[in-house]
This record gives sequence, C-alpha cells and structure tokens, in this order.
Amino acid sequence: MTTISSARVVRDLAKNRNLILDAGCGSGVLALHLAKQNPYSTVHGYDISPDQIAKAEGYKKGHGIGNASFSVSGHDDFQPPYAMDMVCTIGSLVDESEIPYYEAHDQLGPAKDIVRRRLSRFSHMLNSSGIYVFSWASLPEDTETFVELAGNCGLNFKEEFHMDIPSELKTYYHPEAMKFVLVFQRS
Ligand SMILES: C[S@@+](CC[C@H](N)C(=O)[O-])C[C@H]1O[C@@H](n2cnc3c(N)ncnc32)[C@H](O)[C@@H]1O
Repeated sequence: MTTISSARVVRDLAKNRNLILDAGCGSGVLALHLAKQNPYSTVHGYDISPDQIAKAEGYKKGHGIGNASFSVSGHDDFQPPYAMDMVCTIGSLVDESEIPYYEAHDQLGPAKDIVRRRLSRFSHMLNSSGIYVFSWASLPEDTETFVELAGNCGLNFKEEFHMDIPSELKTYYHPEAMKFVLVFQRS
C-alpha cells in the first residue's frame, strides 16, 4: 500500500506533468489523487486485477474525476497510447506471486530478468524528459543493484527518497529494509 509519505513524494514529482501512468495502480487511489491535484493532466492507471480496476472505476465515478482513466492490463502487455511524462510503479513492479519477496534479495535473485524486461518497456514509454518513479521496501544494497540494472535499461538514476516502513508492515519485510522512492530519467 502507498504510505502517506511516499504518496506525498509522488504527488510532488507529478506536479506540472501532463501525461501520467500509474502502472499496477491497484484500486486507483493514488492515480485519482494525482488526477485531482493536476486537473489539466491526463492520468491513466492499469492493473492486472479486474477487481482492483472495478474498484478504481467506482471511486472515480464517486468522486467525479474526469481526467483519470483505468484499464485491466499487465506490465508485459500494456500498450501506451502516447509517450508519458511520468510512469510510476508503487510497490507493483514484481508481484509476490511471481517472485516471493524473500527470494528477491541478493542481487535481486530470480527477479532480475523480469525487472530488466519491465524497466526496458517503461523506458520506451517515456518522452525525452519523462521520469520513471519506482517505490519498494528493500535493503540499501538491493536498491543499489536495482539502480545499476535500471541504468542498463535506459533509465538513469536522478534522485532518491527513503522513509521508515510503517510499524504495522515491518514484520513482513526484512528487518533492515527501508522504503525507497527512486526517480529515473530516460537516457
Ligand atoms: C501492493 S499493490 C500496490 C497498488 C498501488 N500501486 C498502491 O500503491 O497502492 C500491487 C499491485 O500490483 C498489481 N500487479 C501485480 N502484478 C502486476 C502486473 N504484472 N501488471 C500490472 N499490475 C500488477 C497487483 O494487482 C496489485 O494491485
């Protein structure tokens, strides 16, 4: 789930960006928040789960937000209709059902190929000044590996934010894990 603080970072990064993609948007809370905050922007969210997208459509209707849209799609097949100013994956790049969280430590383990394939796709979805925003809870050394891998996929590291993991989620993650928001620029 997006915590308040990482949501705030993403919200600040989205300012003055017109075409925004929330990849793996879940129930669309963040996408709708970004759309509301940036009324002249167009925000699209997709998620592989039809149930999540049904919720997102419901929230959208309930809040009367016209500049957000949603679709059921996956990271490996979503076809962007235009080049994006910002693409984000907030806790959604690799699903627990694909690679269990604890196997993705140590140089990203078996997650490496999936990450490489998806980052290359996101890099091609961005326009020349577009940014990719990635958030996960992990160890600093795994985050370094991620940054290196992203560089090989056409995404240059720009800046980083980190924050504590909320105590109620702490038992799920590695005891030394931190929450990271990483920002990349298309190279
Ligand atoms: C932990 S939730 C995060 C949702 C949202 N980004 C947030 O911050 O609240 C991860 C989401 O990623 C979606 N997801 C997992 N694998 C995906 C894939 N291959 N393509 C698109 N969405 C995916 C899941 O259905 C789930 O809604």
